[in-house]
Amino acid sequence: MAKAKTQFVCQNCGYVSPRFLGRCPGCGQWNTLVEERVGAEKENHKARVSFEGKRAKPQILSEVDMSEAPRIKTGLKEFNRVLGGGIVPGSLVLIGGDPGIGKSTLMLQISGQLSETKRRVLYVSGEESAAQIKMRAERLHVASENFYLFPETDMTNIQDAIKEVKPSFVIIDSIQTMQEPDIQSAVGSVAQVREVTAELMQIAKTNNITIFIVGHVTKGGAIAGPKILEHMVDTVLYFEGDLHHTYRILRAAKNRFGSTNELGIFEMRESGLREVANPSEIFLEERLKDATGSAIVVSMEGTRPILVEIQALMTPTTYGNAKRTATGLDHNRVSLIMAVLEKRANFLLQNQDAYLKAAGGVKLDEPAIDLAIAISIASSYRNIGTDPMDAFVGEIGLTGEVRRVSRIEQRVAEAQKLGFKRIYIPKNNLQGWTPPTGIKVVGVATLSDALKRVFH
Ligand SMILES: Nc1ncnc2c1ncn2[C@@H]1O[C@H](COP(=O)(O)OP(=O)(O)O)[C@@H](O)[C@H]1O
Ligand SMILES: [Mg+2]
Repeated sequence: MAKAKTQFVCQNCGYVSPRFLGRCPGCGQWNTLVEERVGAEKENHKARVSFEGKRAKPQILSEVDMSEAPRIKTGLKEFNRVLGGGIVPGSLVLIGGDPGIGKSTLMLQISGQLSETKRRVLYVSGEESAAQIKMRAERLHVASENFYLFPETDMTNIQDAIKEVKPSFVIIDSIQTMQEPDIQSAVGSVAQVREVTAELMQIAKTNNITIFIVGHVTKGGAIAGPKILEHMVDTVLYFEGDLHHTYRILRAAKNRFGSTNELGIFEMRESGLREVANPSEIFLEERLKDATGSAIVVSMEGTRPILVEIQALMTPTTYGNAKRTATGLDHNRVSLIMAVLEKRANFLLQNQDAYLKAAGGVKLDEPAIDLAIAISIASSYRNIGTDPMDAFVGEIGLTGEVRRVSRIEQRVAEAQKLGFKRIYIPKNNLQGWTPPTGIKVVGVATLSDALKRVFH
C-alpha cells in the first residue's frame, strides 16, 4: 500500500501547509499546526465495515439487537461500580494516570479475570516486553489460556493481530507508545495519538470489541497535551493516588454509560491491587482518641459516604504573615471558614499559623465538610479536644449559618454503622426522615450554636 499523504493543519484557523511550520501564517499563532492525513475527512465518510465485512445500516430502534448488551462484570467490584455496573461491550475506555500509579497492574488483573470468563483478551504493550509482562503476571497470579500478549507499537500489525486473535477485549498500553506508520509525526504527538485513537474507535464500534486505552497524564494534568482523547472515547477513568500511600482511587471523569460520581478505592500490594470494601476504616484507623484539632466528617464520594478525619494545627505566628496551608482540602474554603470564625464567633486568628489536612491522602471537595473544618480549627485554637465519638456535617455560609447538605440519611447511617454516637448536622436537615437508632442527631442552625454545643 502506498504511503498515505499527510498535511499540517492549523487547529486554530484551519490553515493547511504541506510542511510543519512553527507559526501559522494564517492566524499568527505558534505551535498550532498538527499533522493529519490528506483526505481523512473523506475516509471518515466511508461506511463502517467490521472485520467480518458487516456493514452498519440504519435500523429501527425497536428492532436493534441487544443480545450483546448485558454488562460484563469483572471480579473487581470497585471497578464494575466505577464503570456504572460493569463493562459495556464495544465501548472504548480510557484509563489515565501518572506514571507508576498502577495502570498496567490494574489492566493486567482485569485482563486475567476477563480471560477466565472464556472470552479472549489481547494485551498490547508498547512499554514492556512479553517476558517482563509475564513476570508481573506471575506476581499477580494472572494466568489463562485465553490471554494473549503482544508487545507491539505499530497500528497496522495490531490491526492484523486483532483480526487473527478475534478478542472480545483489547488493552492498549499505552496510547503514547502506539504509532500509525502513515503519520510522520513523532510517537506520542497529538497527531499520532489522535489518529491511533480514531482507528481504535472504529475497531471497537464495528466489531463490538471493548478496548481499554492506557494513557499517561502529563504534568499539566492533560493526557498527551490537550485533552484530545476525552471526547473521542466513551468513558474516561482516572487512576490517582499519592505514590507515598498505598491507596489508589479510580474515578470516572466521563461516562456515556453511567454516573461520573462513582469512585473505587484500591490498595496496592505486592500481589497486586486489592479492593477496599470499607474505605472509612482506612481513613480513620490511625486516629488518636484524645487529640485536639481533630474532627470527623462524613463526606460523599459519588453515591458513597466515607468518613474522614480533618486535622487542624493552630500555632502562634513567629514572624511575618500568618501561614495557611491545606493538604487535601481547598485552600480558599479554609480561608473562608477562618474568616467566618473571626467575624461571627469572635476568634482571633490573624496571628495564628494554620495547618489543615484531610488524613489518609484523600482530597475532599464538597461544602458539607465546612463544619468539621471549623470545629477542628476551634478545637486546636482553644486546645480542647472533641469527643472521639462525634461526627460533623454541614456547609457554612458567610453569615455564619449552617446550611443544608445533600444525602443526609446516608451520611448519618454511615456514621452510625461505624460506631459514632453523635452527629452534628444542619438544623434544616432534620425534617422529613427518621434517624437510625443508636446515634444521637443534633441539629445546629449557626456556627456559634455548634461551637457552644460542642465545647459547652
Ligand atoms: N514487587 C512489587 N511489590 C509491590 N508493589 C510493586 C511491586 N512492583 C511494582 N509495584 C508497584 O507497582 C507500581 C507500578 O505499577 P504500573 O502498573 O507499572 O504503573 P503504570 O502502568 O501506571 O506506570 C509501582 O509504583 C509500585 O508501587
Ligand atoms: Mg505501565
